[in-house]
Amino acid sequence: MVNQKIKVFARIKPTKKMVAVYSVDNEDQAGASLEFAVPRDIINGFVDNRREYYKFRFQNVFDQWVKQEDIFEKTAKPVIDSVLAGYNGTIFAYGQTGTGKTFTMTGGAAHYSDRGIIPRTLSYLYECTEDRNEHFTTHISYLEIYNEMGFDLLESRNEAYRLDDLQKVTIMEDLDHNIHLKNLSLQLSVNEEEALNLLFLGDINRVIAKTPMNQASTRSHCIFTIHIRKREPGCATMRHSKLHLVDLAGSERVSKSGLSGQLLTEAKYINRSLHYLEQVIIALSETDRPHIPYRNSLLTSVLRDSLGGNCMTTMIATIAVDNGNLEESISTCRFSQRVAVINNNPILNEILDPDLVKQSFILSQKCLFLPLCGSFPQQLCRGLWLYYSC
Ligand SMILES: Nc1ncnc2c1ncn2[C@@H]1O[C@H](COP(=O)(O)OP(=O)(O)OP(=O)(O)O)[C@@H](O)[C@H]1O
Ligand SMILES: [Mg+2]
Repeated sequence: MVNQKIKVFARIKPTKKMVAVYSVDNEDQAGASLEFAVPRDIINGFVDNRREYYKFRFQNVFDQWVKQEDIFEKTAKPVIDSVLAGYNGTIFAYGQTGTGKTFTMTGGAAHYSDRGIIPRTLSYLYECTEDRNEHFTTHISYLEIYNEMGFDLLESRNEAYRLDDLQKVTIMEDLDHNIHLKNLSLQLSVNEEEALNLLFLGDINRVIAKTPMNQASTRSHCIFTIHIRKREPGCATMRHSKLHLVDLAGSERVSKSGLSGQLLTEAKYINRSLHYLEQVIIALSETDRPHIPYRNSLLTSVLRDSLGGNCMTTMIATIAVDNGNLEESISTCRFSQRVAVINNNPILNEILDPDLVKQSFILSQKCLFLPLCGSFPQQLCRGLWLYYSC
């Protein structure tokens, strides 16, 4: 087991508006930093020219001009490499509405170079698996959490005309506190093209709406998961890992954006589930808390392993630096600082290959058990013995 802190990066959204005074330093020995100098408000009719300074630490801060390719190289590639080695991984984007979470995770449609972390991950992953002398099996699932309800974005393998056309996903917990998602389909995907088709299908089925803050606001949390099983030839063990790529819905000040009707209902659900996420993060960042409130929401239940569990997790905080959004940006940075102190415990997910165990069991019943013991690894013999004694 490796003890590893969640890695937190910041990405600043390009803007042409008046920006606050901010500075980025990626060279500092103590770690990268993002600093804001915020003018104090006009108090009692007098302009107070003094500034308040805020400094936040990150793994790296990507300024406005940093390209999608660099973001992928620095944030996602190391996680994918670990997932290919047999560890669980999660990459999630967090930030105020309209700050570029979906742009970072999925990408923009205008240019090919705008594609985001998910399509780039698929390219890299299939490229890596083709090159290696190992047998990989890849399945994909795509979960949407909309108004605190889970939906399978892929089950129908068709475009859904209404949200009700999608299969509802519910959560179940076993005695070992493992989470199971009932009705979430796992789609086999043998190459990049098939995986991209699944991504596009899911994205078509997502709930998107025009809001005052974003022309195409994604109104749900979405978790695109790649499940990998890996076998090395001649090896009795199998490694299985999963990579969650998470595009969260964005927080929104309802009083500021003036939403009403359906958009207001959605915003309330989004803000409430982000509040529960924050509660989990606060509990995890305080060392003496005996209880972590994962069960308060579907999002935190599904991301239980990613937050303080068996997973290598990376967060990208998306930040707006225009004057009108400073308060929200500072709040995103504060949240990031809490996330950055959380310890995860990723483990190598290795099990005895069930097919090999079964085959050997059948052989052992034909009195071949003893010779096999000499030639198979010790672990397999132990597995066989367990099987035999059941
Ligand atoms: N780094 C960037 N470079 C170019 N365009 C960007 C960048 N970040 C965001 N944008 C653009 O800003 C707009 C809003 O971005 P996006 O939809 O990704 O925000 P979001 O955080 O997902 O918002 P919401 O929470 O409402 O879904 C989009 O038009 C997107 O293309
Ligand atoms: Mg979005």
